[in-house]
This record gives sequence, C-alpha cells and structure tokens, in this order.
Amino acid sequence: MLNKIGLIGGGYIGGVLAQEIAMRKLAKEVGLADPAPFLNPDDPPERQEVIKKQSVAIGKCLDIAEGLPTIRRDVRLVGSKDYSAIKDAELIINTAGVPRKARPDGTFPSREELLTINLKVTNQVAAAIQENCPNATIISIANPLDAIVYTLNKRLNPPKNKLMGMAGQLDSGRYCYFVADAANVSVENVNALVLGGHGDTMVPVRSSCSIAGIPVEKFLDDDTLKAIEARTRKAGGEVVGLLGFGSAFVSPAWAALHMAEAIIYDKRKVLPVCAMLEGEYGVNGMFVGVPAIVGKNGVEKVIELDLTDEEKAAFEHSAGAVRKTCDEVDEMLRNL
Ligand code: APR
Repeated sequence: MLNKIGLIGGGYIGGVLAQEIAMRKLAKEVGLADPAPFLNPDDPPERQEVIKKQSVAIGKCLDIAEGLPTIRRDVRLVGSKDYSAIKDAELIINTAGVPRKARPDGTFPSREELLTINLKVTNQVAAAIQENCPNATIISIANPLDAIVYTLNKRLNPPKNKLMGMAGQLDSGRYCYFVADAANVSVENVNALVLGGHGDTMVPVRSSCSIAGIPVEKFLDDDTLKAIEARTRKAGGEVVGLLGFGSAFVSPAWAALHMAEAIIYDKRKVLPVCAMLEGEYGVNGMFVGVPAIVGKNGVEKVIELDLTDEEKAAFEHSAGAVRKTCDEVDEMLRNL
C-alpha cells in the first residue's frame, strides 16, 4: 500500500480510479485534482458564482468517502479545484484533458485544435507535478497518448523508468477479450501483446498470442484472427460510437491500475507499456508501446521480442507515426 496516489483529472476515468483505489486498498490517501466545472466568462455573474462553488473533484471524493463505511475501507479522499490535492503523491495517474466532442453549434474541433488545447493542459499538469510531487512515478492515460507522454517527458525530464503511458495494457486486453470470445474460452487463458503507438497503427502481435500457452492459430483461423486484429485497432472508436457521450472509461482505469499494482507490490510483471526507448527496437528518444518488466521502480527493463518480418514492418510503421506526432508536438510547444 502506498501513502498517497494522486489523480489528475476527475472525469469518467478519474472517478473509476478513485473508487477502485479505495476498494483495492492501494493507498492510504487519494488526492483528486480537477478544475471543473470551468467558469464561462460569457455566463451571467450569478451563474459564475454558482460554478465557482462547484467542484467535480471534491464532489466525487465526498461521494466515495460517504460509501467507505459501507465497503469497510479507511482511505482518506481529498479533492481540489487546484492541484493541492496531489501534494506529496508517490504515484500520479494522469487523465487530464479535453475530449473530442461537438461544440454547441454542432461543429467539431480539428485534431490540431484539440492537440493544442491538450498540450496546454499537459503543460499545467507537468508544472503541478513539478511543484507538488516531483519524485512521483507517473502513469499517463490522457489522449493523444503518445503526444501527452512525450510532452510530460519534455517538461519534467524524469528518470526514464518513472514515466510511462497506459495504452498497451488496454489494447492488449481488448485483443485478448476478442480472442477469448471467438474461441469460446476463458479470458484467463488468453495472453497477447499489442505494441507500437496508441492509434490506428498499433500492432496486435499474433506471434505473442496464446491460449493456455498454445499458439492462437490452433484455435482460430487466419481470417478470424485478421478480423480480430482489425477490430482491436479500432476498438476505442467502437466504444465511443456506442456510448455517445465520451470514450471508454472502465477498461482504461482497470488497465492503469494493473500497471499501478505491479509497481506498488513490486510484482515485476511483464506488461505492454508506453516506455522511453533508447535504441531498443531501433527507436531512440521516443515513447512507444513495448513489453517491459514493471516493478517498484516503474519500467524496470524493456524486453525486445523476436518479431516476424511482417510484425517488425508494422512496428516500424507505427513508430514512424509516433515520430510524426512528436515532431508536431515539438512545433506546437515552441508556439505555446
Ligand atoms: N488539469 C486537470 N484536469 C483537467 C484539466 C487541467 N488543466 N483540464 C481538463 N481537466 C479534466 C476535465 O475537467 C475532466 O474532468 O480532465 C477530465 C477528463 O475527464 P473526461 O473528459 O471525463 O475524460 P475521461 O473519459 O476520464 O478520459 C480522460 O483518458 O482515455 C483518455 O481519451 C481519454 O484523454 C481522455 C482521458
């Protein structure tokens, strides 16, 4: 159990994280920081006065705290509209950002506009970590994942083992679920890795996919596996389309907590994580999804797989897409 876990962003994922940390007894204290609801300068002053008193973070913490006697858990929950709630956290999980949703006039912000907004948010997040818990290990979930982790690294320059992105665990979970469903076997039997960037170029690694240690091809034919791999690459969008109000929030929270538990209990689990590469897989100075041993120091060791030629080409293509995003981020950060 840690003394304190800090959560930045108290939206859908942040809320699940806070309740699960309490339920799983992962820390004595949870700090949840979120400035929402935001003031709108166009609102009448009376409305602005109401908004000033509201706080998603404090409200969610109080809601969970009032349930603690029922679930028999002693956890301190602290919410704040500023970043004071994350003071002295040993582990930070970051979900802060603005999702891609329609404006009141029905138009959508462009990818660039959204990236600009979220880079500004990430600048604030980095400054808050620097000020309140500079030595924390950081798991970042916020999207666009690769750009946000890259920005946090640029702003904070932490030891490379202490900053990682959560994407592969979620994407691999989706791959495993689809395989278990198609083969009609327990999800507990399926292992698989999804590597590369967190986007359409991600690489479901078929050579890593097994059911009870038996190669997946023994259970499913090539066409079925191809369809599963294609569905895995688009799985985030599938949930967005169904929900209609946002993106997946339970499975990403569980995936991040899987990583957090490996750190908290020093499990040394091999997990897919978005980790800083320094030559591994032919990539230098970038965060890309790879298998790594995760333990008390965070990313303890990146594991290099013997990929098939096809998988290798797909990984290189995906790393190229991440490189493009990072170049874009460099340009944007210069102008922020
Ligand atoms: N500092 C802290 N929190 C912020 C900031 C900021 N500068 N700006 C926005 N937030 C908060 C919002 O107020 C909101 O409550 O981040 C929260 C994001 O929550 P949601 O919009 O509900 O999004 P959620 O579904 O939780 O996903 C969070 O993870 O998987 C990704 O794509 C997803 O980027 C998104 C993130």
